[in-house]
Amino acid sequence: MDNILPFKRLGVMTSGGDAPGMNTAVRAVVRAGLQFGFEVFGIERGFAGLLNGAFRQLNSHDAGNIMQRGGTVLGTARSEFFKTEQGRDQAMAQLHQAGIEGLIIIGGNGSLTGGLELQKMGLPVVGVPASIDNDLYGTSMAVGVDTCLNTIVDAIDKIKDTASSHQRAFVVEVMGRHSGYLALMSAMASGAEVAVIPEVEITLPEMAAKMKAAFDRGKSHFIALVAEGAPFKSQQIYEYLCEVGHFETRLTILGHLQRGGSPSAYDRILATHLGNEAVECLLEGVSGVMIGEKGGTFVRTPLELVVKRTSAVNKKVYELIQRLS
Ligand code: F6P
Repeated sequence: MDNILPFKRLGVMTSGGDAPGMNTAVRAVVRAGLQFGFEVFGIERGFAGLLNGAFRQLNSHDAGNIMQRGGTVLGTARSEFFKTEQGRDQAMAQLHQAGIEGLIIIGGNGSLTGGLELQKMGLPVVGVPASIDNDLYGTSMAVGVDTCLNTIVDAIDKIKDTASSHQRAFVVEVMGRHSGYLALMSAMASGAEVAVIPEVEITLPEMAAKMKAAFDRGKSHFIALVAEGAPFKSQQIYEYLCEVGHFETRLTILGHLQRGGSPSAYDRILATHLGNEAVECLLEGVSGVMIGEKGGTFVRTPLELVVKRTSAVNKKVYELIQRLS
């Protein structure tokens, strides 16, 4: 393909918490980049690798057989040093030395904040949203969210078998550092009785009343989905329900199993589009943006906005869960 490239060497990195579909996005960036005529370099272990010049030139074959794998083949790491001016200078020097003049960062809010800093220093940067939390402004869905939701729903279905057999209440903690998205949407998709999320206030006695009401209605189980970032910790809710409740209660913390696993078809399709769009963006000379998906179209949102805002959860879903439980 004959393209006038804005630069020759393109870097790609994954950063922050791994998310299923990151590898699919890497594949799309590598293959699209090569097709357009870029030389593509993988940056290993996120910002830590950027600081150490851990760059590896990638060919088409390197991107083969990775799209179905969870985690990230490039590796990821958090770096406190990169957050300092000295750290960012060092990263820019490493990129300069390797002749890398444009960068695609696949990650969440922290990673894109780092990307914005590099953009401000003159490096063209484009972001691809990938975080199971789905708290990024500028996209309806981030890469990894769908797979994670499916993992949670599968776990709850299993927990429900036990809950119903024993007529028990279960408090299930899911991830989401600052966002209730995963708890809310998995509560909806699994028919849980309540979601405890940072965005909606609920007291412990209100939760106990909901539990009692559910069993009084003749339900054989009560499932409370608790976001990790909710004001009440899952342990606290569990202890309270044990104390006041007339029903046996158990606590399950799903933890990091939510982040792993082979990406769903949805995540693969999303990651493929977003990775390709990110390359096209740089090809057009556009940078300092994140590629997102809204209403079936791909949109570019300035990184400045992405890192300042968060995506709000839909409170109507909260009410719907109550109505249908
Ligand atoms: O941001 C993704 C996320 O999985 C959060 O939901 C969670 O709070 C955090 O990462 C956990 O981070 P770590 O893997 O460093 O413990």
